Amino acid sequence: MPTRLSSAITWKKLHQHQKEIATSTLCELFSTSSQRAHSFSLEAAGLHLDYSKNLITKETLDLFQALAQELGFDAARKSLREGEPINHTENRPALHTALRDKRNPPIYVKDSNISNEISSAKKQMAVFVKQLHQGKVVGGSGKIIRDVVNIGIGGSYLGPKMVVEALTPYQQNKVQCHFVANIDGSEIVETLKKLHPEITLFIVASKSFGTQETLHNAIAAREWICQHPQLKTSVDKHFVAVSSNIAAASDFGIAESNIFPMWDWVGGRYSLWSTIGLPIAIAIGMDNFQALLDGAHEMDEHFFTAEPQDNMPFILAMLQIWYNNFFSAHSQAVIPYDYYLRSLPEYLQQLEMESNGKRVDRAGRALDYPSAYAIWGGPGTNGQHAYHQLFHQGTQFIPVDFIFPLTTHNPVNSHHAMLIANCLSQSRAMLVGKTLEQATDELLQQGHSQEEADKLAPHKVIPGNRPSNTLTMDKLTPSSLGALIALYEHKVFAQSVIWDINAFDQWGVELGKKIGDEIYQSLSDPKQSSDYDDSTNQLIKRFKRSNQA
Ligand code: F6P
Repeated sequence: MPTRLSSAITWKKLHQHQKEIATSTLCELFSTSSQRAHSFSLEAAGLHLDYSKNLITKETLDLFQALAQELGFDAARKSLREGEPINHTENRPALHTALRDKRNPPIYVKDSNISNEISSAKKQMAVFVKQLHQGKVVGGSGKIIRDVVNIGIGGSYLGPKMVVEALTPYQQNKVQCHFVANIDGSEIVETLKKLHPEITLFIVASKSFGTQETLHNAIAAREWICQHPQLKTSVDKHFVAVSSNIAAASDFGIAESNIFPMWDWVGGRYSLWSTIGLPIAIAIGMDNFQALLDGAHEMDEHFFTAEPQDNMPFILAMLQIWYNNFFSAHSQAVIPYDYYLRSLPEYLQQLEMESNGKRVDRAGRALDYPSAYAIWGGPGTNGQHAYHQLFHQGTQFIPVDFIFPLTTHNPVNSHHAMLIANCLSQSRAMLVGKTLEQATDELLQQGHSQEEADKLAPHKVIPGNRPSNTLTMDKLTPSSLGALIALYEHKVFAQSVIWDINAFDQWGVELGKKIGDEIYQSLSDPKQSSDYDDSTNQLIKRFKRSNQA
């Protein structure tokens, strides 16, 4: 039975429309209108999106708007906002937007008004951050806490780490924040080498308090604290937790007053706005943390009210669906031309790929169209000297989101103008490319013979006609960063509505965890034989041989 999307009338019309569009090039689209940039640009929540360098016309927008209508986009975003259990496989709402709505409208989850819980958790954070900043939080030997290590992984790591890094200019530097995520012991060893136990506090950040990496890193941290002669009985002075599993956090030795609540109605990858954002608030202060939430809230208001055609998250969602489902693109690059945003692509990988890496629709039917693609990227200009070659001449079709702030926190000579010139040069080169004729002429002008020019020219041809978006903000501030993150969150949601999938569960990660536990038993018990496939058995044997006592 065909899925809801593939049988949608507008989806079929879009297939027809794609055939027409595919006969035009981006350059031709620009030449038919001097107003193209203006027509295909949008402002929202302090962000400007220029999406004119895309293979679209007004008709593409109209058709996607009609598709949104046909698929009930309005009702879906209302369900998100009002806390319907849209994560239907876990019977939970996804209420990250409630966390940043400072008007605190009453929202009921299982008969309890969560706006009260949100305000009280925020107050708990504010008090703790203030005490830390005032030097009133002391370790077991009475020394003031100067370093905080966030132990967490996935959503309990990527968002907070990315934001702390992105807002470096706003850091208060009262306490230094560090992050440990990986079960690879090298990470915690290298982090602890730089720290002293008497002045270090750990945040065990785990919604479930059951994630292997986080628990084992927390145990290693606890051993490190307890090894210090003066701190043997001071676990409660050096650990706080952010978790919805209060019992497990208490069993670990964390005082209940030091457990910051988390809730089932916030997904891990959407949680940086909650108490999971504690390291952010510690690094930049509560006022800046609030500004981050306010920026996100402004984007929420835009997303919840603007028509799809004028809706920035919807437009981004639409464009990727356009390339993914109609032009067979398999990946999307995100290239921030801003050093502070260097971890944004890594953060977006979890947001987009864990949310929409799904193979069945909401009714459990196998999708008969592709859903999420791979997200990758890194900061410009570094990528220009590494993988941009693939954008320009590779056989893969890779749409790119370029992002840059118009002004910099760090004016150094002409660096910022050069940085932005590089960014604009990339999107323009992807657009216009270089023809065989241009390449040949260039070679002849450089003094090559006709024969040499004919031989070399094909290697210099750049097909162009490769699409990109350019997102800008006046400056990278807590508020513009909040809006930027919320933009991508809502883009992911809008895509999930069109693809008719649940963006808020992640069942795919479970099997690997279960097999991992079993293999760990095989690796750690010398007597246990392994009965897996031949390759896994061989690798287990190799590991055991090298780790024999
Ligand atoms: O394994 C995937 C995952 O569940 C993510 O969705 C989540 O962000 C991460 O693990 C960490 O989970 P927790 O906060 O419960 O430790």
